[in-house]
Amino acid sequence: MRFITSILCLIATTAQVIAAAEVYTCNATVSCPEEYPCCSQYGQCGTGEYCLSNCNPIFSYEYDACLPEPVCKDISTKFDNYTSKVANINTFLGNASEADWLYTGTVLDYDDEGSMILAMPKNSGGTVLTSSRDVWYGKISARLKSSHLAGVITAFIVFSGVQDELDFEWVGADLNTVQTNYYWQGLLDYHNSANISTNDTFDNYHTYEIDWHEDYTTWSIDGVIGRTLLRNETWNETLQAYKYPQTPSRIHLSIWPGGNATNAPGTIAWAGGEIDWDADDITDPGYYYAIVNEINVTCYDAPSGTSQNGTESYIYKNGDTFLQSDVMISNKRFYLDSYEGTGLNITAGATTSSTASSSSATSSTSHNSTSKESSTSHDSSTSVTSSAYHNSSSTGHSTASITSVSKSSSHSSSGASRTSSSNTSSRLSSANSGSLMSFNNIILFFSALGLLL
Ligand SMILES: *[C@@H]1O[C@H](CO)[C@@H](O)[C@H](O)[C@H]1NC(C)=O
Ligand SMILES: *[C@@H]1O[C@H](CO)[C@@H](O)[C@H](O)[C@H]1NC(C)=O
Ligand SMILES: *[C@@H]1O[C@H](CO)[C@@H](O)[C@H](O)[C@H]1NC(C)=O
Ligand SMILES: *[C@@H]1O[C@H](CO)[C@@H](O)[C@H](O)[C@H]1NC(C)=O
Ligand SMILES: *[C@@H]1O[C@H](CO)[C@@H](O)[C@H](O)[C@H]1NC(C)=O
Ligand SMILES: *[C@@H]1O[C@H](CO)[C@@H](O)[C@H](O)[C@H]1NC(C)=O
Ligand SMILES: *[C@@H]1O[C@H](CO)[C@@H](O)[C@H](O)[C@H]1NC(C)=O
Ligand SMILES: *[C@@H]1O[C@H](CO)[C@@H](O)[C@H](O)[C@H]1NC(C)=O
Ligand SMILES: *[C@@H]1O[C@H](CO)[C@@H](O)[C@H](O)[C@H]1NC(C)=O
Ligand SMILES: *[C@@H]1O[C@H](CO)[C@@H](O)[C@H](O)[C@H]1NC(C)=O
Ligand SMILES: *[C@@H]1O[C@H](CO)[C@@H](O)[C@H](O)[C@H]1NC(C)=O
Ligand SMILES: *[C@@H]1O[C@H](CO)[C@@H](O)[C@H](O)[C@H]1NC(C)=O
Repeated sequence: MRFITSILCLIATTAQVIAAAEVYTCNATVSCPEEYPCCSQYGQCGTGEYCLSNCNPIFSYEYDACLPEPVCKDISTKFDNYTSKVANINTFLGNASEADWLYTGTVLDYDDEGSMILAMPKNSGGTVLTSSRDVWYGKISARLKSSHLAGVITAFIVFSGVQDELDFEWVGADLNTVQTNYYWQGLLDYHNSANISTNDTFDNYHTYEIDWHEDYTTWSIDGVIGRTLLRNETWNETLQAYKYPQTPSRIHLSIWPGGNATNAPGTIAWAGGEIDWDADDITDPGYYYAIVNEINVTCYDAPSGTSQNGTESYIYKNGDTFLQSDVMISNKRFYLDSYEGTGLNITAGATTSSTASSSSATSSTSHNSTSKESSTSHDSSTSVTSSAYHNSSSTGHSTASITSVSKSSSHSSSGASRTSSSNTSSRLSSANSGSLMSFNNIILFFSALGLLL
């Protein structure tokens, strides 16, 4: 399933709040206006974080409104006691040195297995873990346990701003099959999917690897290749192009409700049927979950012939075709100073926002006006979290495996349980300048509580 479909689920949970503000949407037919020039992966126009991480240059006001993407870096991450190192994507301004991984949704430490939980509480849109840098060809391997039950999707994908995509997907209704898929520039194509068999993906850790080369890709499970895609096979005579994923991409791991009742019937059928929001997992531990133990990233060299006048970031040379040959490596900056910045004016708002945050008058006003707003969202996330921990009487496998989370939940009450309670505000901030102040102040408020990095 296209990653974009799962992202729609994430924003569905905040739809009523977004509806209150003026929001510009962007898609293949409507680009963003100059004032809010960046088209986010959520299909909404804005500035700041909208211009980072999977900003879509095709649907943006101008292709270079999206910021350059930080180049690939080899990493090996053990997700052991890791939640405090994951940055909230909605408040991250792009400095990839600050964090290797970003999240939206709910992540929890799972000490018993030295792993991290991606959680999907009742009626939520789930959780996405995203790399802070791109891969432009490389090998990515993830050791994980999928979620389970009908309608619950776990995914490990590679996804670019122009929606090139390589997927591993687990449909919770069939734990012995892993689906693989690929897309080129987000075009729907129902013939690109293929299955690989394995044993119970919920009970067992397996290592899933996407080995993405310029001219072929393999999908492997536990070191055994289950699928090979040749770029050659994807040639389209009409377009005179390979419909092969070929642009700098982020790594995403996610859990999302493919079987939510409001999704398209085809999506629900693919997801194995409607999700049961009253399943045992929702009572105890309090959420559906996938568990990630380790991810390794090995970067490959850029294709020969790639234009290069630096070493720091990937940029597009022009706004025309967005193919491999349009990508170059530069030293252009890939981070912002403020939520008002864009690729077209990278320093916009820099002075304003530092003045605002250093002015005690402003921040005390804002503190009052936001504490009500932000404590609402904080409370709702806390209640999700605490209901998870109050119900940890153990019966059966899944209960037992999650009971130890209640141990790590003692960290969560001190700030290690990280949720997307500020999501809504960050989207509003860019879509509606009237709420920009309150968004920055919510950040100050959460920083003060130690809830952000
Ligand atoms: C693009 O967005 C516009 C405005 O929201 C909407 O009217 C149109 O149907 C969308 N087009 C597509 C292809 O989704
Ligand atoms: C988790 O990491 C934090 C610092 O990041 C440390 O203070 C804490 O002791 C660690 N907890 C465990 C159980 O290792
Ligand atoms: C980026 O983050 C690193 C690590 O926190 C820090 O040392 C560096 O100064 C930051 N760069 C900028 C431009 O803020
Ligand atoms: C899931 O469906 C319910 C209605 O059954 C709806 O209220 C909720 O917003 C939907 N959630 C998502 C994430 O789409
Ligand atoms: C990551 O790399 C380390 C060191 O080479 C290796 O021991 C580990 O098995 C790898 N993990 C995965 C998930 O590939
Ligand atoms: C993959 O397996 C699922 C069942 O888990 C099935 O519905 C689907 O048709 C299979 N896809 C392919 C391409 O064989
Ligand atoms: C499941 O797969 C793993 C890894 O491939 C293997 O070690 C294990 O023996 C398998 N278990 C069963 C019951 O087949
Ligand atoms: C496919 O790849 C092979 C080997 O890389 C090459 O010799 C051949 O010409 C390619 N065919 C097409 C149609 O591109
Ligand atoms: C080539 O791509 C176009 C545009 O996406 C599509 O309509 C056409 O069916 C493709 N041709 C083949 C042979 O797949
Ligand atoms: C590198 O190339 C880009 C794109 O043409 C340009 O914007 C940038 O200024 C160049 N940098 C240097 C140092 O020449
Ligand atoms: C960039 O933003 C700054 C401050 O917001 C503004 O003063 C400046 O005119 C903008 N520059 C351009 C080229 O729009
Ligand atoms: C902010 O709250 C404090 C105490 O809650 C109150 O004394 C003060 O008057 C409030 N300031 C404003 C501007 O509302």
